[in-house]
Amino acid sequence: MRTALITGGARGQGLSHAKRLAAAGWAVVIGDVLDEDGTASAKELSDLGHSVDYRHLDVSDPDSWDSVMEFVRDEHGSLHGLVNNAGIIHVADIVEESLEVWSRIVSVNLTGSFLGLKAASPLLEVGSSVVNVASVFGPIGARGYAAYCSTKAGIIGLTKVAALELAERRIRVNAICPGGVSTKMNEDEPEGGVSDDTPFGRRAEVDEISGTVAFLLSDDSRFITGTEITIDGGLTAK
Ligand SMILES: NC(=O)c1ccc[n+]([C@@H]2O[C@H](COP(=O)([O-])OP(=O)(O)OC[C@H]3O[C@@H](n4cnc5c(N)ncnc54)[C@H](O)[C@@H]3O)[C@@H](O)[C@H]2O)c1
Repeated sequence: MRTALITGGARGQGLSHAKRLAAAGWAVVIGDVLDEDGTASAKELSDLGHSVDYRHLDVSDPDSWDSVMEFVRDEHGSLHGLVNNAGIIHVADIVEESLEVWSRIVSVNLTGSFLGLKAASPLLEVGSSVVNVASVFGPIGARGYAAYCSTKAGIIGLTKVAALELAERRIRVNAICPGGVSTKMNEDEPEGGVSDDTPFGRRAEVDEISGTVAFLLSDDSRFITGTEITIDGGLTAK
């Protein structure tokens, strides 16, 4: 059985990816800081007969990665997929944003993905696949999103470098760039966030992102590496 680790999988898009991969026969390890939600999500999926475990994981903490990797090694032996999905956001113009909040967003979104690649690399089998979750806010800017956009643009750069470095082990590394997706992350955004600017006129539902993640983790994408796939209902086509 192939094993995937999904960060930030206690809820939202990460949980949807966990459901999709579990249904496709993957063993899934969910890592998150939301222990109550994560434990309940893993139990719900295990009760359906899937192999899904929850482990506490703060992606910004190298020790936390070590302990999750120890669990993966002991329980599964190795990894075939990694989804660096955990992320946080804060909206403020640059002049208003605090260094503390900026640094926290960088630590979780960008450093967390770097630490994930670093920690998982020794356990990733030849032919494995990594998906880093960026955003359309990265390739494009958005007022008030300096820290968020900077980390998501950084994730695309990190993706390309990791793809080059891991190609010799035939490990693929790609990024996805979702547009607006209906999750807790953006539930406070006024008026549906980017919906008015999106040709499809709405945000994506979480399962509309999971198909691309499952594709990128599957052999159907076996020659795709070092690139990003945009899933935005046409938002950036203009
Ligand atoms: N919602 C959107 O419109 C949208 C659009 C593009 C990209 N994204 C990205 O998609 C990813 C998933 O976000 P979502 O929309 O499901 O929102 P979400 O807030 O529901 O999920 C984010 C998850 O990351 C977890 N997390 C936060 N800090 C963590 C840490 N230090 N260690 C481990 N886990 C941590 C949260 O607890 C949560 O479960 C994020 O990277 C986000 O930036 C979201």
